[in-house]
Amino acid sequence: MKLQGKVALVTGAGSGIGLAIATRFGAEGASVCVNYYGHADDAQALARKLSESGRAIAVEADVSRRDQVEDMVARTVRELGGLDLLVNNAGIEQYKPFLELDDDTWDRTVAVDLRGVFLCTQVAARTMRDQGKGGSIINISSIHEDYTFPGFAPYCASKGAVRMLMRTTALELAAHGIRVNNVAPGAVATPINEATLRDPRKMDLLRGIIPLGRMGTPEEVAAVVLFLASDEASYVTGATYYVDGGMTRYARSV
Ligand code: BGC
Repeated sequence: MKLQGKVALVTGAGSGIGLAIATRFGAEGASVCVNYYGHADDAQALARKLSESGRAIAVEADVSRRDQVEDMVARTVRELGGLDLLVNNAGIEQYKPFLELDDDTWDRTVAVDLRGVFLCTQVAARTMRDQGKGGSIINISSIHEDYTFPGFAPYCASKGAVRMLMRTTALELAAHGIRVNNVAPGAVATPINEATLRDPRKMDLLRGIIPLGRMGTPEEVAAVVLFLASDEASYVTGATYYVDGGMTRYARSV
């Protein structure tokens, strides 16, 4: 019960890594606001399940909209009694070779993957500052905050920006006892990788560039997020933790 008495908000918790984080946080004693956008069934089912042992709510909000983020944080405070932990997990990606990239794909990706982190962090951090008991903010970035990903320019641009947003906010919020860190997953078996998971040839290629030889699980990412959220990580801020089976260190000798 590493998060007993804490209130957490996890964005994009209706599927994949966010669902695993919200599930683990609930199991560790946190009250959880399960944010979703379009994955209502899984998010509401999770909130119902978590409510059996603690407190949880499911709240639909588009993280790229300030009004919706403000309403969601206000509801969390009102219904769960405060806000100690924020996990900026919501994210989207779409394959588009750069020369064919259109404005809408660029704008929507940056709106969710970057502006969403800005808005949720600012609104949550103001609440944490006013509460006066610190907090922990964890951004689920990606290995692509630093590692190239051809065909995904707006995703990479957003994740690279989240790397510096995290470093800057870590400094600015330290005075309020608020820690900010990134968790950078590599290839994890979630709906975002559906096409790859269904293609044996792509799976072989992928396994070949991951030193541990397999995709990760959402639960393996959630374990590291839990550490950063907990008081065990009380001296950790401004850092990126890679959870990638060694993918960013891959090299082949000849
Ligand atoms: C992306 C996945 C990709 C993985 C490794 C993640 O950030 O969302 O689509 O498989 O990085 O490249």
